[in-house]
Amino acid sequence: MSKKIMLRNIERAQRVINENKETVKNGRMRQHYHFMAETGWINDPNGLIYYKGKYHFFYQYNPYYGHWDYMHWGHAVSDDLLHWEYLPVALAPSEIYDDHMRGGCFSGSAIEHDGKLFLMFTGVTNEGRGFEQTQCIAYSEDGVHFEKYEGNPVLTPPKGVPAHQFRDPKVWKHEDTYYMVCGASKEDRAQALLYRSNDMIHWTFFNVLAESRGEWGYMWECPDFYPMGDQYVLMVSPMGAGERTVVYMTGDFDYETGKFDYHYSGEIDWGFDYYAPQSFLAPDGRRLIVAWANCWDWMPFWKDWGPAYKEGWCGSFNIVREVRMTKDGRLQFLPVRELESIRTDQKRQDNLTIGAAEMDWKAGDGVSFEMKFKIDLEKTNADAFLISVRCGGGKRTVCKFDFQHAQMSVDRSESDGWSKGISRSVMNLKGRKELDVHIFSDQSSLEIFTDNYTNNHSNNIFAGNGQNEIKLCACNGETVLFNMEMYGLLECNK
Ligand code: FRU
Repeated sequence: MSKKIMLRNIERAQRVINENKETVKNGRMRQHYHFMAETGWINDPNGLIYYKGKYHFFYQYNPYYGHWDYMHWGHAVSDDLLHWEYLPVALAPSEIYDDHMRGGCFSGSAIEHDGKLFLMFTGVTNEGRGFEQTQCIAYSEDGVHFEKYEGNPVLTPPKGVPAHQFRDPKVWKHEDTYYMVCGASKEDRAQALLYRSNDMIHWTFFNVLAESRGEWGYMWECPDFYPMGDQYVLMVSPMGAGERTVVYMTGDFDYETGKFDYHYSGEIDWGFDYYAPQSFLAPDGRRLIVAWANCWDWMPFWKDWGPAYKEGWCGSFNIVREVRMTKDGRLQFLPVRELESIRTDQKRQDNLTIGAAEMDWKAGDGVSFEMKFKIDLEKTNADAFLISVRCGGGKRTVCKFDFQHAQMSVDRSESDGWSKGISRSVMNLKGRKELDVHIFSDQSSLEIFTDNYTNNHSNNIFAGNGQNEIKLCACNGETVLFNMEMYGLLECNK
């Protein structure tokens, strides 16, 4: 019976997607090479996995409208992480534990088990006792059509964890055992809870993997835990930790005790539109992460569902990044090399000296482009270097490298009449001879990577196509750039 309800709900969603997708495709704000859903709203990446020769992306999805509601899992596959084939919706709300307009099938992860593709997700319902979150299983023989496990839910919140703060299971396998980390809150402090299982169905609590002592908020959404060499990485998206919305910790983990002893913590991205990253392994062993390029109402500069809502959609994923670790335990997040395959219109320049007079610059069509360069800190005597992108009609987005105050910032206050806020981060300049900068611009987003990819800013901007100028200038002196590379980036979403 319940199988039938899910099928019916998937068919209904699919009908609406098919009706709307051609119109939505023509939306003016649609991205060119970032992942989006065909219609409606998306948030977190879910169930990312390389399975049977393809990359699978699942995603928090409301196929009906461009706002958050009634969560389904959308599904798409790709060979190159850039061109996607949309598959039928994988999960729809259908059961007593997940069928609610303000609930549904919340975030989770995927793993191969017993020759099948297993999904673990959070079922969210409300039957008059407030929202209740439980962990549930679905599986598929063909990697396309999923069935929810009859015995769901497989886990309910432990004592002391409120029923509405227990979500986002991320599973992995170590030796013969499955492990799962889940976000939770206890006495208003965030926790990452560790569970284990031999069969993906029966789960037992192992330990509190890590917890906030007040400094990291009251709830960790979408925790992820994975090895990097002989160290481990915990990524969390804290609620209630101000502008620090995507944090990582690196340190030692012991499978005997289930405790994570972290030594270093950092921010994955300082921009306003980077949240809930999830990791997965590429077949060549790279650890890749993808995040939702947007923010929630508890985060700085959230305004409403956003302007793309009017076009019948909202949300995209950030560029896929490869995670690497430096010797001192810091993480680098590099745009995946697959992006090089969509470069076009290449231009190079060895050296460029920039003064106070604003200089026009070209990269691709000024909307969908990539720019890479180094700042020569020895030859630079300016107080700051400014690169303004998507300029036109009195609007612009300004990225500032302030050498005097060792601060990098991206200012959206004049971007589009809608976006707001200045994202800021500290630049590590001590003893440095050069600073690397890597910029990716798409129709509605701007991602800037610097300091060996340890200091990054992802921000959405909803600039029109007339805003296609790039301008460079230096304050109080000169800035010298070298090894400049400019590219246009090809459309992948049509
Ligand atoms: C994070 C999140 C998750 C939840 C999902 C609901 O963005 O709030 O904690 O599972 O989104 O869509």
